[in-house]
Amino acid sequence: PRRVVSGLQPTGALHIGNYFGAVRRCVRLQDKGDDLMIFIADLHSLTTHQDPAALQENVLDLTACLLASGIDPDRSVLFTQSSVARHSELCWLLTCLATHARLAHLPQYKDKSAKMKEVPLGLLLYPVLQAADVLVYRGTHVPVGVDQLQHLQVASQLVRTFHHRFGRTFPTPKPLLAEDGSDRLLSLRDPSKKMSKSDTDPKSCILLTDSDDTILLKLRKAVTDFTPQVTFDRENRPGVSNLIAVHCLAADKLPEEAVEEADGLDTGRYKRVVAAALSEALGPVRERAAALRRRPELLRDVLRHGAVRARVRADEVYESVLARVGLAPPV
Ligand code: TYM
Repeated sequence: PRRVVSGLQPTGALHIGNYFGAVRRCVRLQDKGDDLMIFIADLHSLTTHQDPAALQENVLDLTACLLASGIDPDRSVLFTQSSVARHSELCWLLTCLATHARLAHLPQYKDKSAKMKEVPLGLLLYPVLQAADVLVYRGTHVPVGVDQLQHLQVASQLVRTFHHRFGRTFPTPKPLLAEDGSDRLLSLRDPSKKMSKSDTDPKSCILLTDSDDTILLKLRKAVTDFTPQVTFDRENRPGVSNLIAVHCLAADKLPEEAVEEADGLDTGRYKRVVAAALSEALGPVRERAAALRRRPELLRDVLRHGAVRARVRADEVYESVLARVGLAPPV
């Protein structure tokens, strides 16, 4: 059977790339009946500096956003990574199979470490922990944005190495990409880059918490090109095509339909159409998230309940892994 696993870091408000690219796709898989494990990757977030008090708030913010987006904590398992120690325990076993050379070669590691004076080891091990996150549930499918492919390749390589040494134990997790472009939303300020939380320009991404006015303002400042017509051409017109992608995701349309609707509008006017569609799609989520956020006890309860269920599943897998490796306690 399929088991879908995905995680998000609690590093401030979600942007629409995270929302359309990961969260909403998880919700749709859940609603189609998939067995979904979705967690808050708080351990991963420690690879960059986090203020402890802010981290706690961010975890609750993200929990509220996930519930507001439609994650149902009774059907799916929603929890924090740190509440299931097996992630870290399996991570250690996998670090003994991973090579420094392979990890040091990953683009994301190279980018991030290049900006640091002292590179924490956790940053290097980041993809190994991510592999453990999935394997500890024998995850089969991982819905993510394209930026995570490099990490999932490490996971499949670790599965191969593990099997070679110890015999078949895990399914090879498959990244689930999207067909609607939601897995690769671009920065609104520089369409040669992906939309990213760590971007220093706040106008580069739209957050789930942004008001309708802010959404409109950010879209009006979105960089396009010198052609006024609205046409869909990812290669040559990445900026406008990214706006069309956002429009389509917000209004559940195909690019052809969006372009037809934009007939006669220049990109400036079209931005208003996109803003209206986005406000309509995000408004209810934003409001539900705000209401849930005022109930921290409920959010903590949801996470506690998720942690209990996740631990049961992780224990079962981890015990069989220990036996494989030769670490099972003597009987
Ligand atoms: P994070 O928190 O950076 O991002 C959460 C999810 O959002 C996707 N995403 C995007 N999708 C489309 N367009 C974009 N511009 C965009 N930016 C981000 C990400 O691909 C991700 O799916 N390492 C992960 C968290 C993680 C994880 C895991 C994911 C930890 N363990 C195990 C899957 C399985 C991360 O940093 O996501």
